[in-house]
Amino acid sequence: MKQTIMRMLLHFLLALLGGLTILVLIQAQDQSGFISIDCGLPEHLSYSDTDTDLNYISDAKFIDSGVSKKILSTNNVRRYLEYVRSFPSGVRNCYRINVTSGTKYLIRASFYYGNYDDLNDPPQFDLHFGANVWDTVKFPNASRMRFNEIIYSPSQDYIQPCLVNTGQGTPFISAIELRPLNNETYVTSSVLSLFNRCNLGSITDIEYRYKDDVYDRMWFSYELIDWRRLSTSLNNDHLVQNIYKPPTIVMSTAATPVNASAPLQFHWSSNNENDQYYLYIHFNEVEELAANETREFNITVNDKLWFGPVTPIYRTPDLIFSTEPLRRAETYQISLSKTKNSTLPPILNAFEIYMAKDFSQLETQQDDVDNITNIKNAYGVTRNWQGDPCAPVNYMWEGLNCSTDDDNNPPRITSLNLSSSGLTGEISSSISKLTMLQYLDLSNNSLNGPLPDFLIQLRSLQVLNVGKNNLTGLVPSELLERSKTGSLSLSVDDNPGLCKKESCRKKKNLFVPLIASFSAMIVIVLISLGFWIFKRKRPVIITSSNSKNRASTKSKHQRFSYTEIVNITDNFKTIIGEGGFGKVYFGTLQDQTEVAVKMLSPSSMQGYKEFEAEAQLLTVVHHRNLVSLVGYCDEGEIKALIYEYMANGNLQQHLLGSLCFVLESSLSMHLRFSNSSFSIF
Ligand SMILES: *[C@@H]1O[C@H](CO)[C@@H](O)[C@H](O)[C@H]1NC(C)=O
Ligand SMILES: *[C@@H]1O[C@H](CO)[C@@H](O)[C@H](O)[C@H]1NC(C)=O
Ligand SMILES: *[C@@H]1O[C@H](CO)[C@@H](O)[C@H](O)[C@H]1NC(C)=O
Ligand SMILES: *[C@@H]1O[C@H](CO)[C@@H](O)[C@H](O)[C@H]1NC(C)=O
Ligand SMILES: *[C@@H]1O[C@H](CO)[C@@H](O)[C@H](O)[C@H]1NC(C)=O
Ligand SMILES: *[C@@H]1O[C@H](CO)[C@@H](O)[C@H](O)[C@H]1NC(C)=O
Ligand SMILES: *[C@@H]1O[C@H](CO)[C@@H](O)[C@H](O)[C@H]1NC(C)=O
Ligand SMILES: *[C@@H]1O[C@H](CO)[C@@H](O)[C@H](O)[C@H]1NC(C)=O
Ligand SMILES: *[C@@H]1O[C@H](CO)[C@@H](O)[C@H](O)[C@H]1NC(C)=O
Ligand SMILES: *[C@@H]1O[C@H](CO)[C@@H](O)[C@H](O)[C@H]1NC(C)=O
Ligand SMILES: *[C@@H]1O[C@H](CO)[C@@H](O)[C@H](O)[C@H]1NC(C)=O
Ligand SMILES: *[C@@H]1O[C@H](CO)[C@@H](O)[C@H](O)[C@H]1NC(C)=O
Repeated sequence: MKQTIMRMLLHFLLALLGGLTILVLIQAQDQSGFISIDCGLPEHLSYSDTDTDLNYISDAKFIDSGVSKKILSTNNVRRYLEYVRSFPSGVRNCYRINVTSGTKYLIRASFYYGNYDDLNDPPQFDLHFGANVWDTVKFPNASRMRFNEIIYSPSQDYIQPCLVNTGQGTPFISAIELRPLNNETYVTSSVLSLFNRCNLGSITDIEYRYKDDVYDRMWFSYELIDWRRLSTSLNNDHLVQNIYKPPTIVMSTAATPVNASAPLQFHWSSNNENDQYYLYIHFNEVEELAANETREFNITVNDKLWFGPVTPIYRTPDLIFSTEPLRRAETYQISLSKTKNSTLPPILNAFEIYMAKDFSQLETQQDDVDNITNIKNAYGVTRNWQGDPCAPVNYMWEGLNCSTDDDNNPPRITSLNLSSSGLTGEISSSISKLTMLQYLDLSNNSLNGPLPDFLIQLRSLQVLNVGKNNLTGLVPSELLERSKTGSLSLSVDDNPGLCKKESCRKKKNLFVPLIASFSAMIVIVLISLGFWIFKRKRPVIITSSNSKNRASTKSKHQRFSYTEIVNITDNFKTIIGEGGFGKVYFGTLQDQTEVAVKMLSPSSMQGYKEFEAEAQLLTVVHHRNLVSLVGYCDEGEIKALIYEYMANGNLQQHLLGSLCFVLESSLSMHLRFSNSSFSIF
C-alpha cells in the first residue's frame, strides 16, 4: 500500500519557479471556465454574488422543462439559493450543459428547499448524471442547504444532470456549478464524489470557498476531540503552493492534540462495506520551529500504518493521498501519532474524503443519440425525451428499446415506437441512421410522402409498421421481398395512396415503353385538337348523350364544392369501386342525373398529377368510349372528379383500370395544370 501513497513534493519545483507560481495564482483568480447556474432565476437575469463575486446566470437556456419558483423567506439565504426550478411533470428532467470534453471539473448541484411550495414537506428524489445514477437527494433538515459534488472529466462536450421523480415529492434544484480543475489533481480511476471537506483549527464557523479557493471548493470547519488550535497569519505570497491550491486561509490554521503525547484522531462510518474512500490530507507547518524542535508523525488507518513519517514544512502546503481507495471496513479511524524522535505533537490543517462513484454505465452511442435527437426535433415529439436515450435502463425514452446488456459497448437503439404520436410530414432519413433498429412502428400517424428506399438500410429490421398513415407511392421492392421471405413483418395497411401489390410494380415496368409512345400520341392528338378548336374560335363544348339533362342544372364540367359532393353522394353512402388511388362513390345530381364520384387520395403527388391529367384529358377529349366528365371538386386537399354514371359494367374497369395509364402519361407529358381552369388551351 505504501508505494501507492503520494506526497506532493511539487513545491520544491515550484519553489525554484516561484515567480511562475505567483503568475499562475493570479491567473487562476479569475472565473474563466466557471459555469455558475442559478436554477429558476428568471430568464435573461444574471448577477454577481456580493459575497463571492461569482457570476450567476439563469438556467433557462440549459433546460426546456420545469417551473421557476422562489423560496418563501430569503432572510439570511445566499442569493443563488433564492430561486429553485421545480419539476412537477415528467419523471426525468435533464439539464444539458456544454463543457470542454476532457477537462476535469468539480461539478456541484445545490438544493435548498426553503419551503418554496409552501407544503413544509421537503421531497426526496434522485439525481442522475447522464446515463448514471448520481445520488438520492434527501433532506433530514428542511432548513439546511445540501449539495452533491463530483470530480469528473466528461468525455462528451456536454453533461446532463437530471432530476428524477421517485414518487416521493416534486424534484427541484437550486444551483449547478462547474469549476475546471487542474487535470493533474485528484487523479484516480474512479469518479470522486465528495463525502467531507474539512478545515481544522478554524475558530469561525465560516465555510470558505471562492475567492479564497481558486477552484471554489467549499471547506467547512470541523472540530476534533481534545484538540487545540494553532494558527498563523498568512497571505498568498507567503505560501509556496502546490497544484491542489488549498486556500491560504485554510492552511493558516491547524489542529493539534491538547495532550502533546496523544494522537490526533478522526473517524467516519460506512453504510456499505463496498463503499470506497479516497482520503486527501493537507499539511502546512504554521509554526516556525526552533533548531532543537522537530515535528514528525505517522498516519495510521484502523491502526495500520498508512503513511509516515510526515514532517510538515513551514509555509508550504503538502498533501498526502492514496491512489488506491480505503475499503472493506465499517469504520475508518484515522490517527496521527508523533514518532519517538518528534519533540512536537502532530498537526492537521485540512482533509478531504471522497467516495468512489460507479459511473460505469456507458452513454448511448453518439450517432444514435444525434439521430434520435434529430428525429425528436423533426417531429416535435412531445414525450419526455430527456437525458440519455437508453440509460439508466429503467429510464429509457418512452417508445425506445436498446441493447444495454453489453458492458463494454455503448447502448444502441434497437426499437423505435412512435405509433399514435401525431407525426406529420415525411419519414425522416434519420430513422435509417439508427442502424441497429429491429422494430420500427410509425403506425397511426399522419405521415405522408413515399415509403422511402432508405429504410432498406436497416439490415436488422424485423418489424416495420407504417399502417394508418397517408403514405403514397410504391413499397420498396426489397422490403416486399424481405416480407415475403419472412425476415420482415411488414405492415402498410390503411395508407390510401400506397401501392403494395406486386402487380402494381409489374404493370409499371411492363407498360412503361408502351405508355411512353401512347403518351406521345396523346400529346399529338391533344395539340392537333387544340389547333382545331383554336381555329374554330369558339369555346369548347363537350357534349354527351346526357347533355340535355345536365345542361338543365349545371354547365359542363363545372366546379363543385365539397359540401355539394357530400350531398351528391349522400355522404359517401355507396362505394361502387375502389382503386389504388381512391374510392369511387355513386351519386345523384340535383336533376337526378346519376354520377360516379371519384375521390382522390389527398396530399398525394401522384394522385394530384393523375387528377390533373385525367381532368385535362377528359374535358377536352370526348369520345363515346370514354366516360364524360361532369365536373370536379378542387377544394384544398379535397379533389374529386364527377363522371356520368354508366351502368354498363365497363365503368369500374375504366375508372380504376385506366388510372395507371393516365397517371403514367401525365408523368411523361408534364402537362401544366392551372387551378382555376381545366382548359389547356
Ligand atoms: C451547446 O453546444 C451546441 C453545439 O455544440 C450548440 O448548438 C448549443 O447552442 C450550445 N448550447 C448552449 C446553451 O450554449
Ligand atoms: C436544522 O438546521 C437548522 C439550521 O442549521 C438548525 O437551527 C435546526 O436546529 C435544525 N433542526 C433540526 C431538527 O435538526
Ligand atoms: C492533462 O492535460 C494535458 C494537456 O492538457 C495532458 O497532456 C496531460 O496528459 C493531462 N494529464 C492527465 C493526468 O490527464
Ligand atoms: C496523554 O496521552 C498519553 C498517550 O495517549 C497518555 O498516556 C496520557 O495519560 C495522557 N495524559 C493525560 C493528562 O491525559
Ligand atoms: C529548545 O531550546 C530552547 C532554548 O533555545 C529551550 O528553551 C527548549 O526547552 C528546548 N526544547 C527542547 C524540546 O529541547
Ligand atoms: C512510523 O513509521 C515508520 C515507518 O515509516 C516506522 O518505522 C516507525 O516505527 C513508526 N513510528 C511509530 C511511532 O509508529
Ligand atoms: C531520530 O533522530 C536521530 C537524530 O536526529 C536520527 O539519527 C534517527 O534516525 C531518528 N530516528 C528515526 C526513527 O527517525
Ligand atoms: C446519424 O448517424 C450516422 C451514422 O449512422 C452519422 O454519420 C451521422 O452523423 C448521424 N447524424 C447526425 C445528425 O448526427
Ligand atoms: C426491450 O428488449 C429486451 C430484449 O432486448 C426485452 O427483454 C424487453 O422486454 C424489451 N422491452 C420493451 C419495453 O419492449
Ligand atoms: C408500439 O406501441 C403501441 C402502444 O403504444 C403498441 O400497441 C405496439 O404494439 C407497439 N409496437 C411495437 C412494434 O412494439
Ligand atoms: C390512433 O391515434 C389516435 C390519436 O392520434 C388515437 O386516439 C387512437 O386511439 C389511435 N388508434 C389506435 C388503434 O391506436
Ligand atoms: C390523411 O389526410 C387527410 C387530409 O389531410 C386527413 O383528414 C386524414 O386524417 C389523414 N389520415 C390519417 C390516417 O392521418
